[in-house]
Amino acid sequence: MSRLKGRRIVLGVTGSISAYKAAEVVRGLVREQADVRVVMTREAGAFVGAVTFSALTGHPVAVEQFPDTGMAGEEHVDLAAWADTVAIAPATANIIGKMANGLGDDLLSTVMLACEAPCCLAPAMNFRMWRNEAVQSNLDRLRSRGVHVIDPEFGLLANGEEGDGRLAAPEQIVEAVAILADPDHDLAGCNVLVSAGPTAEDIDPVRCVTNRSSGKMGYALARAAARRGASVTLVAGPTSLQDPYGVAVEHVRTAGEMRDAVLANREGQHAVIMAAAVADYRPGTQAPRKMKKTQESLTLEMTRTADILAEVAADRPPVLIGFAAETHDGLDNARRKLADKDLDLVVYNDVTADGAGFETDTNIVTLIRRDGREESLPLQSKSDVADRVMDEVAALLRNREVVPA
Ligand SMILES: Cc1cc2nc3c(=O)[nH]c(=O)nc-3n(C[C@H](O)[C@H](O)[C@H](O)COP(=O)(O)O)c2cc1C
Repeated sequence: MSRLKGRRIVLGVTGSISAYKAAEVVRGLVREQADVRVVMTREAGAFVGAVTFSALTGHPVAVEQFPDTGMAGEEHVDLAAWADTVAIAPATANIIGKMANGLGDDLLSTVMLACEAPCCLAPAMNFRMWRNEAVQSNLDRLRSRGVHVIDPEFGLLANGEEGDGRLAAPEQIVEAVAILADPDHDLAGCNVLVSAGPTAEDIDPVRCVTNRSSGKMGYALARAAARRGASVTLVAGPTSLQDPYGVAVEHVRTAGEMRDAVLANREGQHAVIMAAAVADYRPGTQAPRKMKKTQESLTLEMTRTADILAEVAADRPPVLIGFAAETHDGLDNARRKLADKDLDLVVYNDVTADGAGFETDTNIVTLIRRDGREESLPLQSKSDVADRVMDEVAALLRNREVVPA
C-alpha cells in the first residue's frame, strides 16, 4: 500500500499551455490513493476543462473565489487547512509572482496565502519568460521561504522553439509531491546507497554479456527511500528507466565500474542495499574490433569479477542488505549469502515464479533476517516490496540508534 494513501493533496492548475499534463499528475496521485482536490485559475480553464479534473478526482473543482451560490465562502481557508501538501503544476510566471509578493486576487492565490502545509510548484513557461530576472528572483524568494521548486526541463516548447521552461514530466511531479507528503519521513537524515540493474561486459565493440535485470526493483528502492526523507545515491547499470526524482544517480556499465562507484560512495552511508544483478564473470579479453563470423564455434574465456557485496561487508555500514535472485535451491542459497556476507537482511526471490523477478512490475519475495526470522510476502508491486524493505531499514537504524526511536 502506497504511503500516499489517504494523504490530502490540493493541486493548483494555472493558465499554461501544459495545463493538460496536470491530468496525468492527478492520475498518478489518485493511482496511489491520495485524496486530491483541484483548484484551477480561470485562465487554466481556457486550456483544460474542470470536468476532466472532477472526473479524475471524484470531487468538484474549485475555481471561483466568489461562487454564485449566495453564500459567503471560506473555501480558501478551508482548502488550505485541509491539505497535507499543496502543489501547483503547471505554475505560471503569474502565480509565481503573486506568491512571491503575497498577493491574493483569485481563489488559488488566496489559498496559497492561507497555506501552512508543505508546498511545491512546477513552473512551465517559454524560455524567455523563464530566464526573466523578475521570475528568477521571485522563485529565489519562494525557495528561501521553503517552497520546493520542481525545475522545468530543457526541450521543445509550445511555440516550436527549444529551451528551458518545459513542465517537468508528470511522474517526476508525482514523485516530488510524494516526497513532500510522506507521513513521517522516518529516514530523514539518513544516507542510503542502492545498486540497481544489470551490468554489461563487452565482448567486442558491438556485443556484450549481460542479464535480464530491468533495474525496476532497485529504482523502486531508491524512490521509496527518497520519499521517506533519505538522501539517496543510486548506482545504476544500463536500464531504460528515468532517474528517480530527488535521487543522485551514478550510471555505470560494467561490474568493474559498479564496484568502483559503490566503493567511492560507500563512506558515510547508513544503509547500503545491493539490488543490482552484477555479472559474476566477464570476458577475459575484449576484441578491439567487431568479431567476424569466420569460425564454426567460438569459446569465450571468462574471468571472475569482484564481489562487491563482500567488499562493502568488509567495512560494514550500520545496515547492509542483499538481494538473492535464484532459480533453484533458492532459500538455502539466500541463507548462505546472509551468513557469508554478514548481512542484516536478504531479499530472496525465485525469478522463475510468475509475477516475480526480472522485467515485471511485481515481485514475490521472502525476507530472511539475520536473527533467523523469515517472512514470505505475497505477490505485490515492486513499489510495495521496496516500502517493506524500507520498513526494515528504518527499524534497523532505529535499533542501532542511527535515527531516533
Ligand atoms: C496560448 C497561451 C499559452 C500560455 N502559456 C503560458 C505558460 O506556459 N506559462 C506562463 O507562465 N504563462 C503562459 N501564458 C500566459 C498566462 O496564461 C497568463 O499570464 C495568465 O494571466 C496566467 O493566469 P494564471 O496564473 O492565473 O493562471 C500563456 C498564454 C497563452 C495565451
